[in-house]
Amino acid sequence: MSGARENKPGTVWGGALILGVLAAVCTALVVWTQHVTEPRIEQNRKDFLEQSLAPALGGLYFDSDLSKSAISIEPPHELPGNGPATVYRVYRELEPVAALFVVTARDGYSGPIRLLIGIENNGKISAVRIIEHSETPGLGDKIEASKSDWVEQFPGKSLSDPDLENWAIKRDGGVFDQLTGASITPRAVIKAIRETLLYFEANRDTVFAVEQPAEDTNE
Ligand SMILES: Cc1cc2nc3c(=O)[nH]c(=O)nc-3n(C[C@H](O)[C@H](O)[C@H](O)COP(=O)(O)O)c2cc1C
Repeated sequence: MSGARENKPGTVWGGALILGVLAAVCTALVVWTQHVTEPRIEQNRKDFLEQSLAPALGGLYFDSDLSKSAISIEPPHELPGNGPATVYRVYRELEPVAALFVVTARDGYSGPIRLLIGIENNGKISAVRIIEHSETPGLGDKIEASKSDWVEQFPGKSLSDPDLENWAIKRDGGVFDQLTGASITPRAVIKAIRETLLYFEANRDTVFAVEQPAEDTNE
């Protein structure tokens, strides 16, 4: 006598049917969950982006959707860094207000320094923030807004204030403060800001012309 139970065809088909129904229910649940959570995830993503970019706007009023206004400037370009640079265009009533550049200064003391540089449509800096760096704590890291007010000397500055040759730290004949015992870091940041201002001056119309964003419908 054999201990193995024989599978009758009806039982096999019944099991397959149950599995099929279960798979369909699971798939439907996944699709439904995705459908329900997608707008929320998208809204959170937009909120996070706006919160991250806001410090570079220096309080400028705008009514466009920053997440829809990004363009990528592919190399070769005249901006700091070798890779693609992201620019968020900022509008008020469909008129350009500012451009926020994410660029990379490659000549930091300990490696690349990622910067967010806000430039108003009139060519003045709205604000600068350091996004990422590997500079030494207590020395080069004072470029961070949370560590010192060093970056606060840039809002309102432009290519004509100070003149181009004065876009340097004081010990190099410029007008900007250095950091005690750390000249390499501020040199790199100031050079990157200066290059970004030059790029914006030469390409302002092109930057704003690409894919004019639609009015924010909060969809
Ligand atoms: C351990 C160590 C860490 C340093 N970190 C930095 C830094 O983060 N940024 C910087 O500009 N210089 C840093 N320096 C100092 C530079 O070597 C350099 O002396 C300084 O930038 C001043 O340059 P200067 O002589 O041209 O003014 C560091 C030096 C040492 C020994």
